[in-house]
Amino acid sequence: MGLQQQIQNIFPAADQIPSEFLLTEPINQREYLIGGEMRLWDGPQEDVFSPLRLQTTTELLPQTIGKFPLLTETESLAALQAAVAAYDRGRGKWAVMPVQQRIECLQDFTYRMQTQRDQVVKILMWEIGKSYVDSQKEFDRTIDYIENTIDALKNLDRVCSRFEIVDKVIGQIRRAPLGVVLCMGPCNYPLNETFTTLIPALIMGNTIVMKTPRPGTLPVQPLLEAFQKAFPPGVVNTVYGKGRMVTPPLMTSGQVDALAFIGSSKAATNLDKLHPKPHRLRTILGLEAKNPAIILPSADLDLTVQECILGTLSFNGQRCTALKILFVHRQIAEAFLEKFVAAVNTLKFGMPWEPGVVVTPLAEPGKPEYLAELVEDAKRLGAEVINEAGGTVNETFFYPAVVYPVTPQMRLYDEEQFGPVIPIVPYDDLETPIEYIVNSNYGQQVSIFGQDRDAIADLIDPLVNQVCRVNLNSQCQRGPDTFPFTGRKDSAEGTLSVSDALRSFSIRTLVAAKENSLNKALITEIVKERKSNFLSTDFIL
Ligand code: G3H
Repeated sequence: MGLQQQIQNIFPAADQIPSEFLLTEPINQREYLIGGEMRLWDGPQEDVFSPLRLQTTTELLPQTIGKFPLLTETESLAALQAAVAAYDRGRGKWAVMPVQQRIECLQDFTYRMQTQRDQVVKILMWEIGKSYVDSQKEFDRTIDYIENTIDALKNLDRVCSRFEIVDKVIGQIRRAPLGVVLCMGPCNYPLNETFTTLIPALIMGNTIVMKTPRPGTLPVQPLLEAFQKAFPPGVVNTVYGKGRMVTPPLMTSGQVDALAFIGSSKAATNLDKLHPKPHRLRTILGLEAKNPAIILPSADLDLTVQECILGTLSFNGQRCTALKILFVHRQIAEAFLEKFVAAVNTLKFGMPWEPGVVVTPLAEPGKPEYLAELVEDAKRLGAEVINEAGGTVNETFFYPAVVYPVTPQMRLYDEEQFGPVIPIVPYDDLETPIEYIVNSNYGQQVSIFGQDRDAIADLIDPLVNQVCRVNLNSQCQRGPDTFPFTGRKDSAEGTLSVSDALRSFSIRTLVAAKENSLNKALITEIVKERKSNFLSTDFIL
């Protein structure tokens, strides 16, 4: 079967879907969690359409996989009030709880979460079209993240379980919570990225309002009961619905102390500016990126192609860390393009459950049309799609398009495509990619491919001051999660990693006293009789 025909036949008939990957029934989510109470919504719901169409004898049918509540400002503010009440201006049960007890709650949650693995993985596949293998990875990586966070917190707490005496002042310095955190994750990693802010925020003693992304709401539904059972009432509250309806009231209330948002810088700015007391709001943001690869004349082409395929096309290029533009030296451009296109041709595309599949349908409404517009714009300005069938659309499916040569006039040069379009720019002088990075609105990561030590070393020093991770002969990526993940300019605010996130969602606070006999006796008694959870030398094993 030719490529075009394979693309036209990509969607299965109902009886071709292996039964183990089917959702047993549509998820009719009516419940939302507020103040420890699982409330039932009897108002309007939003249908969740899968990007996976169903082939009938006559047509391709969209499939609904479930519904979720379209809450209003009233429920959103009720969720906020529950979080505010649970925090109780820093006097709430969760905020003052000993770290060890908070850890026990999180361990209980993790245990409950693991029982939902199969269902969450299946929903990820059906709702956002992520391959089965990557959906499993998203779940397992999140569990690892939680376990690593617990270890990191124990370490942090151990270091703080002592007093310091400096200049005759005794002090105990710990990290205290910020208050109420609004957590909003993205649709490409609705579970993992939401949890990489929610979990550290939670474990540091903050209370949470979680707004799930659209698409990407249903994968969290099987975990609602675990949140309800594992944490005290009001510590985790959920909000669903149209972002523009339910999130502005949260911000204008002035009662959100930290905004953890992964998404577009435009949406982040719109939320940020609604807070009436901007200095009281901490923002931890993961935003757009346009990570370039710089391919030097000395690059090992096979390795470079392998990494650039992973970098540009893993999960259809729908990663904030994806390589979104490739600068290739003109000397080797032809050889690189030949190998790269050959590699694209061999990539498996299809349904998420198919073994080895890389390219799958796209969940964001209107995405294939948007990508087609970018490609058309580039073609109009002189570029070509150089791979067979590149840019072919079949409903929600967009076959990867390798676009060459891309120039600064084209939208693809600067716009974050967030999908399977690979713009390639030939260059003669290294100043071209360097200037590109310097002038870019984004500053997350870069990949350099080459074997010439001098050339690479000469690039590292200027580039570390432009982006936050320089990858050598490797695609851009977030992991391992213990490494810092951040960006400059419009790409991020704050740093996320297992240990950095604990710091991002807390503030250093200390108890201090002049070193005299009264204070020494006072502190000794408080510690000995375990009267305070903060002023304590308890050591978590
Ligand atoms: O979309 C952004 C994700 O954090 C990317 O993570 O590089 O591990 O796929 P990843």
